[in-house]
Amino acid sequence: MKTIRKGRWTLAPLGLAAALLAPAASAAPPMLAATPPMGWNSWNHFADKIDDATVRAQADAMAANGMRDAGYRYINIDDTWEGQRDASGVIHPNAKFPDMKALADYVHSKGLKLGIYSSPGPKTCAGYEGSGGHEVQDAQTYAAWGIDYLKYDLCSLAQPMIAAGNLEKAQAIEVAAYEKMRDALRATGRPIVYSLCQYGFYQPWRWGGSVGGNLWRTTGDINDTFARMVQIGLGQAGLSKYAKPGNWNDPDMLEVGNGGMKAAEYRTHMSLWAILAAPLLAGNDLTKMTPETLSILANKEVVAIDQDPAGRQGDRVRAEGGLEVWAKPLSGGGKAVGLFNLSDQRANLDIDFAALGFKGPVNVRDVWAGKDLGRMKAYHAAAVIEHGVVLLRVTP
Ligand code: GLA
Repeated sequence: MKTIRKGRWTLAPLGLAAALLAPAASAAPPMLAATPPMGWNSWNHFADKIDDATVRAQADAMAANGMRDAGYRYINIDDTWEGQRDASGVIHPNAKFPDMKALADYVHSKGLKLGIYSSPGPKTCAGYEGSGGHEVQDAQTYAAWGIDYLKYDLCSLAQPMIAAGNLEKAQAIEVAAYEKMRDALRATGRPIVYSLCQYGFYQPWRWGGSVGGNLWRTTGDINDTFARMVQIGLGQAGLSKYAKPGNWNDPDMLEVGNGGMKAAEYRTHMSLWAILAAPLLAGNDLTKMTPETLSILANKEVVAIDQDPAGRQGDRVRAEGGLEVWAKPLSGGGKAVGLFNLSDQRANLDIDFAALGFKGPVNVRDVWAGKDLGRMKAYHAAAVIEHGVVLLRVTP
């Protein structure tokens, strides 16, 4: 007998009466972050040089340049927006953000969503006012402003315990703090994506979902160098089993377009993040990008790999001296396959599709080239440039 699952209710076809007694389908709220969140965040490019006008300009650019149509949604303000609390403890933005509600309305009018940043400790990483002890009040304030996403960055909380090597105590404090904000966010009734940032201490992939995180940082901060990007990306090996719709590993935001890497290296960055089903949060100035940067960020086929509805994270298949093959299962039985040449010279890369579990020949598409390569049992990529990638979409 066929049953239809709706949240915790199961509708068996017992007739009209049973169906009428069951709660309406709308009772189950839609899942937050059913695919990895996509958007933009102020930190990597602007750091503390972020203000209302700059955020509006990023939203304008995202709505106009094709990124919104490619799936980018969140415009996230990172650290340094915070002002003081008033006599009743309510947080206010500083002078850079004169009216947060008006800013949210503006971003929403562009078909986008607004994100904000805080810390469970007394101070944020940049030394601004944190939410510790004001969780309920702050969640209410964010909801009243129309905030859709919160990055909650550990920083000052539990630092003394970490410094003293008392990691167990530190973790317990953190978990309690993350749960406090989870409950405060839920109590607002507003869907707010909850992003945990604590740099990967004590394996947050094992507990981030249970404290309400829709995503959790798995590492320390990225920077705009090939070496750091690769170190972080490859460090995700083995974590694929912890990601699923609603709960994602977060290897940090994108550096694509910030100028420290070559275009080929940014394609490697984007390909690896897509295979990892990583959140895609652009970290560049969207108002000043080159067409090449936009073509990397807004490549619909690459984004589709990241956003595949099956919600499976990819993982390492093979690694040999800077040559790596990674694969991500896709809905419909296909796979995205990245052939990465992370070495400093040109190299050949091969993949036998049988090694990925395919029986017989498969349809192969070169994603960055936008070209179907036909049916094959194995693929030989000749002379992949140093730090480059060939990204394939393979369909049985
Ligand atoms: C930490 C985070 C960064 C950024 C800064 C802001 O370093 O990991 O992503 O949010 O704080 O101060």
